[in-house]
Amino acid sequence: MRRVALLGATGSIGRQAIEVVAAHPNLRLCALQSGSTPLDEPAAAHGVAHFQVGGSAVELLERSEPDIVLNAVVGFAGVEATLWALEAGVTLALANKESLVAAGELATAAHARGGGVLLPVDSEHSALHQCLAGREAETISGVVLTASGGPFRGRTRSELADVTAEEALRHPTWSMGPKITVDSATLANKGLELIETHWLFGLPYEAIEVVVHPTSVVHALVRFRDGALLAHLGLPDMRVPISYALTYPERAATPVEPLVLEGLTLSFEPVDDEAFPLVSLARAAGERGGTAPCAYNAANEVAVAAFLEGRLRFTEIADVVAETLASVDGAPARDVEDLVEADGEARRLAERRLQPA
Ligand SMILES: NC(=O)c1ccc[n+]([C@@H]2O[C@H](COP(=O)([O-])OP(=O)(O)OC[C@H]3O[C@@H](n4cnc5c(N)ncnc54)[C@H](OP(=O)(O)O)[C@@H]3O)[C@@H](O)[C@H]2O)c1
Repeated sequence: MRRVALLGATGSIGRQAIEVVAAHPNLRLCALQSGSTPLDEPAAAHGVAHFQVGGSAVELLERSEPDIVLNAVVGFAGVEATLWALEAGVTLALANKESLVAAGELATAAHARGGGVLLPVDSEHSALHQCLAGREAETISGVVLTASGGPFRGRTRSELADVTAEEALRHPTWSMGPKITVDSATLANKGLELIETHWLFGLPYEAIEVVVHPTSVVHALVRFRDGALLAHLGLPDMRVPISYALTYPERAATPVEPLVLEGLTLSFEPVDDEAFPLVSLARAAGERGGTAPCAYNAANEVAVAAFLEGRLRFTEIADVVAETLASVDGAPARDVEDLVEADGEARRLAERRLQPA
């Protein structure tokens, strides 16, 4: 029996995780946490002893003693739980990509000390985890992340100026929470995933490509030095990577429909960096290192929230991130306090950019 602590239980990933756990005889929820939405219903229905709305994730995790932490919180708020699980050597199923982007260096050091298992839940990284398993590092020449391109694929920068939050929230292939849906429309999501890939698999940025693949059937590919590529295919359904992470290495069955190959065509195109600059901004922040990725994430969180509130244009999300990155010193964080300070400073700079001059 594996006892699962689910953080972000009321979200898109959280609700699908509850479904995955309920369908598997060897998984049991031992703790649930949300940010502010009441939890009574899922907690009672699943007989969970430890649950809380808001509050300290660490306190909840220490009390509930899980075998696996599924971190499905959105945003920088997930950092605390990621660092706790990695330090404690408790298996971490990570959906909260923002924590690895913001705290990459601290998380990697905590992981090395804790010695536990880190399993990505993001579909692209789950795909890479599977394609890279058992491979010798020197045989790999690079990896490829696919991006759907979001609802505005093919538009120019000027055609994006007036798009609304409602339009941005209409994702063509994935059904997700609002923040990641906007990130998918700006391609900041792929920027975050680029940095996440660097930390998860220890790959240099020049070995990580991003291509647009509109149907989201191929989740990621690995390029080998002999010219071969391994691709991971599947319908875009997060229950697959959630189940993979929670039942690893068993690979339990899921109710997801099989992918029909007849009639399937796969197309790939380059990212339009002028219309969607947040991938190249992430690459630059990742290569700069230190707390630059933390600032990228913080500024993006502030800008996305402002866009959803109607205070910022879609194209200005990237402007806020670029201007924030240009203003921060990006010095490395020695500890969590430094990181929280860097996150706060980037948020203040981004907020200042939002004020009318
Ligand atoms: N959705 C997907 O298909 C998908 C795919 C790949 C990766 N991810 C990643 O998974 C994470 C969750 O995404 P999502 O789409 O599930 O988001 P979501 O639907 O917005 O859910 C977010 C969850 O986090 C909780 N939360 C928010 N702030 C919190 C805080 N300060 N402390 C504790 N909990 C907090 C929310 O609680 P309340 O309900 O109380 O606000 C909610 O349960 C994100 O990092 C995202 O990038 C998602």
